[in-house]
Amino acid sequence: MFKAVLINKDEAGYRAALAELDEGALPAGDVSIKVAYSTLNYKDGLAITGKGPVVRSFPMVPGIDLAGTVEESTHPAFAVGDAVVLNGWGVGETHWGGLAQKARLRGDWLVPLPAAFSARQAMAIGTAGYTAMLCVMALEQHGVRPGDGEVLVTGANGGVGSVAVAVLARLGYRVVAATGRPQEADYLKALGAAEIIERSTLNAPGKPLARERWAGAVDTVGSHTLANVCASMRYRGTVAACGLAQGMDFPATVAPFILRGVTLAGVDSVMAPYALRMEAWQRLARDLDPAVLEMMVEEIALGEVIDTAARLMAGQVRGRVVVDVNR
Ligand SMILES: NC(=O)c1ccc[n+]([C@@H]2O[C@H](COP(=O)([O-])OP(=O)(O)OC[C@H]3O[C@@H](n4cnc5c(N)ncnc54)[C@H](OP(=O)(O)O)[C@@H]3O)[C@@H](O)[C@H]2O)c1
Repeated sequence: MFKAVLINKDEAGYRAALAELDEGALPAGDVSIKVAYSTLNYKDGLAITGKGPVVRSFPMVPGIDLAGTVEESTHPAFAVGDAVVLNGWGVGETHWGGLAQKARLRGDWLVPLPAAFSARQAMAIGTAGYTAMLCVMALEQHGVRPGDGEVLVTGANGGVGSVAVAVLARLGYRVVAATGRPQEADYLKALGAAEIIERSTLNAPGKPLARERWAGAVDTVGSHTLANVCASMRYRGTVAACGLAQGMDFPATVAPFILRGVTLAGVDSVMAPYALRMEAWQRLARDLDPAVLEMMVEEIALGEVIDTAARLMAGQVRGRVVVDVNR
């Protein structure tokens, strides 16, 4: 038997609860894992609270991330005792996920735990941090360099935002953090933000073009914010768009793209190919200061996941939540 968060949806409604499950109930897969840590991302918050259509089949164990040790494997790349990390691939959506003491899944989805990180640190990073790194890599790929000017990070107190601020600052960019929680300015400055701006300056309907300010931007909130960020990019600047915390809509015009040569680079972590994942994890080992990462972490037990998911959805969680599934 093992403990897990379990989501059900039936005549009694949509609900998540802590459950004791039989290992025989685990889904098919060629690698079985003893989970050490998991984490809570925005998507896990949507899944657990039922606020978004994340879960595709029921009952579902949520958790789009896990770090643990291989207990059984018929996959050629993984042997018993190997330390592994899983991010995405629909785990926690269509296949039982990481908010559990055991998991069984496809070895093709796993990456080896990078030597630079403990299992706990890998989950402090989680999908949020790995996505932040994909966003930074997208800016670099489109030629945004520290000398080009300021870079903006929206939703800066969130998981993706916090890691993006920390990595960009460490790489030498002047990072401006947009937040609805300016009271967290000391935290954001400790991560490396040079300046804090209120998200209210960005989240209302704006003009097709605004004063050129940002050489690059990482946007985690979408909607009017993303439209206004695009409108205020400098000539040939790039926006890496990965999130929808404000909304999934994109009420923009083409003006920034056709008049200023702005690039809107979409970032997806869920189905990102293996080589890109490996590169992102290697870059995190190099470009994210572990001491700064620790500043972002709130650690909870598996039994605290459901309450914490509600706090995350209410915008009351700062940085990253690590879940110790064994306490
Ligand atoms: N594309 C991908 O593969 C991928 C991967 C990971 C995450 N994501 C997406 O990225 C976003 C952030 O994820 P996360 O795990 O970092 O979530 P998170 O920790 O909950 O952070 C979200 C942050 O967005 C800001 N925010 C919340 N509600 C807002 C609103 N109504 N208007 C404007 N800003 C708002 C808040 O920052 P402040 O308090 O600082 O304002 C909040 O901390 C989510 O939409 C998530 O789905 C996408």
